[in-house]
Amino acid sequence: MSQRKSIKETIAPRERAFLVGVDWKAIPDGKYAPDAWPVEESLAELAQLANTAGLDIVGQTAQKLDRPHPSTFIGTGKAEEIAGEVRDREVDVVIFDDELAPRHQRELERAFGKGVTVMDRTGLILDIFAQHARTREGALQVELAQYEYRLPRLTQAWTEKAMTRQAGGRAGGSTGGVGVRGPGETQLEIDRFAIRRRISQIKRELETVRASRARQREQRRREGFPTVALVGYTNAGKSTLLNALTGSSVYVADQLFATLDPTTRRVTLPGGAVVLFTDTVGFIQKLPTDLIAAFRATLEEVLEADLLLHVIDVSHPHAIDQARAVFATLKEIGAEDLPVVNALNKIDRLAEPEAACDALGDLPDSVAVSALSGQGLVALLDEVEEVLESEMGRIRVLLPFDRGDLVSLIHERGLVFKETHQEEGTLIVAQVPESIAAQLVEFSA
Ligand code: GTP
Repeated sequence: MSQRKSIKETIAPRERAFLVGVDWKAIPDGKYAPDAWPVEESLAELAQLANTAGLDIVGQTAQKLDRPHPSTFIGTGKAEEIAGEVRDREVDVVIFDDELAPRHQRELERAFGKGVTVMDRTGLILDIFAQHARTREGALQVELAQYEYRLPRLTQAWTEKAMTRQAGGRAGGSTGGVGVRGPGETQLEIDRFAIRRRISQIKRELETVRASRARQREQRRREGFPTVALVGYTNAGKSTLLNALTGSSVYVADQLFATLDPTTRRVTLPGGAVVLFTDTVGFIQKLPTDLIAAFRATLEEVLEADLLLHVIDVSHPHAIDQARAVFATLKEIGAEDLPVVNALNKIDRLAEPEAACDALGDLPDSVAVSALSGQGLVALLDEVEEVLESEMGRIRVLLPFDRGDLVSLIHERGLVFKETHQEEGTLIVAQVPESIAAQLVEFSA
């Protein structure tokens, strides 16, 4: 746990949270997949998220509904019942597992009484993101997503409490808040104006930071190393695996969304080829697409990868549902056609690793590993190598004698089948990663 957070905890008592889930009888507006998680399991995950955000859970409830109530989202009777719980248990924050429209949030805050904040899963995830962003770009991305999410939802309770939580929770890369607080509609207007101004300012800053990242990515692309993006459900063990493979020390914590900013490391495969591995943000069910889109930096790493290494926590009771949620997210961001190797992680926790892995056995290209004990890591790299090789393109090029650099590049990065010296240059037939093949097009023979 970070030092910042422990300081926060010593000076302020932890806020008391009450969780609310809905057991949907039908799928409202086709918004949730038919295989949406059972309400108790989704609430258990929400509790873990709330814990990660530093909240104390003091109770929870669920209601069976076929569609949201137009004003209070849940039934009005249920809302009254929760208001009673809020008073009895001195609740500070009521968290809904489903996305609330701004009008629902306002209505519910009115029903629960003064000083009580109402938020939804998305708002909570944004708070966690704010606590975990460590680079300037990460902090800016989160701040922008938070303000865009909050603008239509701004109420007095939010300006007073949510902004305070955000300011207390933001990591070292803080970008400075808008300093909004105060009673009454007039103050709300001032807050809205300040937020809009800050949104434009962040967008400008982000453009500058992104331009420099694009340059770095271009540099890597020119070096031609294939890239592998680690994807997976939050807490599956991506950072631990990256550390185990590279000996680096990317931040590892038993918390949701410990990693927010992409980190890239070099790994040498058993056959000697160098590959770049990139850690990415954890995925989670019910993460709205526009929120995912806010994390463009991470997504660009995913979309530009030559291969995805999908890390699955096989010791988790809902490993299959988590894997499905990841595949659904990959599809949403347009990454479903990239080759995938599945790392079935945390097998050290299983009494019978084979039996548990059987359940996920229909996933192709799967390797059982333990990032913690190191078990299976060589086999995993072998698999990555094999799949990458199968993705390589065959080239036949005639390189002028003054392009010895390209001849070396092909030898370093590819598999050379034939090399002959001719009058006009060196003729090479080889298999190389697509990124290198693209640089050689003009020399095709
Ligand atoms: P996010 O940043 O939230 O997306 O998480 P992550 O996927 O990067 O997970 P991380 O590497 O932070 O690991 C989460 C927790 O799982 C940590 O407590 C790790 O020590 C633990 N963990 C990771 N791999 C293994 C493993 O192979 N075995 C066991 N027993 N624990 C593991």
